[in-house]
Amino acid sequence: MYEQQLGLKPPMGWNSWNTFTWDINEQLIREAADTIVAGGYKDAGYEYIVIDDCWSLKDRDDDGKLVADPIKFPNGMKALADYIHSKGLKFGMYSCVGTHTCAGYPGSFEHEFQDAELLAEWGVDFLKYDYCFKPRHISGELLYKRMSLALKNCGRDILFSACNWGEDNVYQWIRESGAHMYRSTGDIQDSWDSIKSLTLSQLDKASFTGSYCHNDMDMLVVGMYGGSNSDFIGSQIGGCNDVEYKTHFSLWSMMGSPLMIGSDIRKANQPTRDILMNRDLIAINQDVEGRGAYRIKPEPQWFHADDVFMLVKVLTDGDVAIGFFNLSDGQREMSLQFWDIGLPYASGKSLSLYDCWEHKEIGVFRERYAPVVPAHDCLIVRAKLV
Ligand code: GLA
Repeated sequence: MYEQQLGLKPPMGWNSWNTFTWDINEQLIREAADTIVAGGYKDAGYEYIVIDDCWSLKDRDDDGKLVADPIKFPNGMKALADYIHSKGLKFGMYSCVGTHTCAGYPGSFEHEFQDAELLAEWGVDFLKYDYCFKPRHISGELLYKRMSLALKNCGRDILFSACNWGEDNVYQWIRESGAHMYRSTGDIQDSWDSIKSLTLSQLDKASFTGSYCHNDMDMLVVGMYGGSNSDFIGSQIGGCNDVEYKTHFSLWSMMGSPLMIGSDIRKANQPTRDILMNRDLIAINQDVEGRGAYRIKPEPQWFHADDVFMLVKVLTDGDVAIGFFNLSDGQREMSLQFWDIGLPYASGKSLSLYDCWEHKEIGVFRERYAPVVPAHDCLIVRAKLV
């Protein structure tokens, strides 16, 4: 009955929050599911359709059960789950460790087992579990253990997505709690500064991600262009350009983050589709060994600030994914000495490099490779030993 591979690879899907926040309804969720299939996203690997906060009534019913808002979801959650499943997709929902969710709806505190059973009845496959309104006398660690136990015993496979924003040294205890992914950062905004600061905050956390418990750097803002009904996330901020979205997607892919689309995919333009469905990047993200990416500073190291770096991810088949990231505001030459990834000149070996954005071979190099990378841009190569 239980799926042995639940959470093996970084989960991929779509989440309602970044663009729609409170303004969600059944029709929107169905259309998102339709687009995931018709637009080719499902074939590229996206499978979870997740409703974030603001889906329930403000009060539980007389039996203490959560109630889906009948205006937003007139046919109820079971019917929506059935619809999503009929498309070959999986259904995600949201709750919170505290007495209330972040937007003030009922949370699961002291209702964990009852809520897990209700989610299972509805046919839910994924639970995002937030950190607001947590009673102060009890540790977050214990509350995530509670819901994990409840989910693992509710009679249905439900992927557990913890969301405590990197608080309380979550790295040190989350894997043991049973969560399949965990938010390590505060909320993303649709801005270059936000992408950059979330990234820099996680560069030294490469050993805290991997199979069955992935470091979640938050939903993607690719393709939002400032289009959110939340001023905090985007509408006052203005969004990013396509180069910045490309770099954002590359970072999340290389760093092993779950890939949860946060834009209105019903309206995605071609550059957005090309970014979100880059198969070469997705293959790196979904590599089955699930290793974190280590950082190397380009030579000469004294010359480059922390926002210019290479990330290296060792892949299952012996290839190595290498990302040259220039998050600075000026063009940079980024010299990688192959010595630094374990390949000495004396080995007699070279690297054959394939460009994962241009989707073509670059050539064969021995000892070093030094591309010039424009500001805010990146180059992602898949390197094969020859
Ligand atoms: C928190 C989470 C967000 C989102 C909102 C919903 O801020 O970090 O991702 O779920 O709550 O209220």
